[in-house]
Amino acid sequence: MTNCRILVLNGPNLGHLGKRQPEIYGAQGMEALGTMVEKMLPEAASRIELSYFQANGEGQLIDRLEGAWRDKLDGVAFNAGAFTHTSLALADCLAWIGVPCVEVHLSNIFARTDQPLRRQSLMGQSCIGVIAGFGMMSYCLAVSALWQHWLKENS
Ligand code: DQA
Repeated sequence: MTNCRILVLNGPNLGHLGKRQPEIYGAQGMEALGTMVEKMLPEAASRIELSYFQANGEGQLIDRLEGAWRDKLDGVAFNAGAFTHTSLALADCLAWIGVPCVEVHLSNIFARTDQPLRRQSLMGQSCIGVIAGFGMMSYCLAVSALWQHWLKENS
């Protein structure tokens, strides 16, 4: 039986989750995700292989996405941080690699009416879906969505 291999990819300023503006982005760090997945998907957790990568630079993120394509990963849960709103280069990469990607945000970017640019995403059109607003649970929901997507594609 094959496993579902998912990359959890984080962009700029997401290397210190739990410490960065916890009132906006939550108090949990990435290390909480594994346990969350085990609790949410007890039947599936042993078949989900998570790998993690964070970079502050656009090029490093593109290299890692190309790596996901080369390694034939089954999915990417991608929080591109501020690049979500600005990076045509990352959007271009997602558009061709064909690895199922879920756009993830800790905050509900659509409710951040004080900063309208945050409500726009260049990534979303190349993703299978978007999850925003649930703190660390957003990543867990993205992993769950990618798992369901994989099951459907592989049955
Ligand atoms: C974010 C939202 C972005 O607007 C912001 O630049 C981030 C984090 C989020 O997870 O809520 O760095 O992607």
